[in-house]
Amino acid sequence: MLERVLSNVAAYTREHFATEEELMQRTGFQELAAHKAAHDAFVRRVQEFQRQHQAGEVGITVELVTALGDWVRHHVLGMDRAYGPHLQAKGIR
Ligand SMILES: [Fe+2]
Ligand SMILES: [Fe+2]
Repeated sequence: MLERVLSNVAAYTREHFATEEELMQRTGFQELAAHKAAHDAFVRRVQEFQRQHQAGEVGITVELVTALGDWVRHHVLGMDRAYGPHLQAKGIR
């Protein structure tokens, strides 16, 4: 069950990050590289958990999934908000 939650987190973030990066690219957002680096680090972290779980090295716990959810919330409320003014300046809301 938790394995499924983790793969849903991976699928959702992949899609969301791609959309966001495309929008940043298209509107010439200056912080794109740093923002993309944060996205990529998260994707790698999720992949590593999946790999460890499949290898039986580590159990996926509710705490772990909660921590991933917290990262996403933190990112959305922090870095994602930082490009709001940029989008507004480009006439996108
Ligand atoms: Fe986002
Ligand atoms: Fe983001």
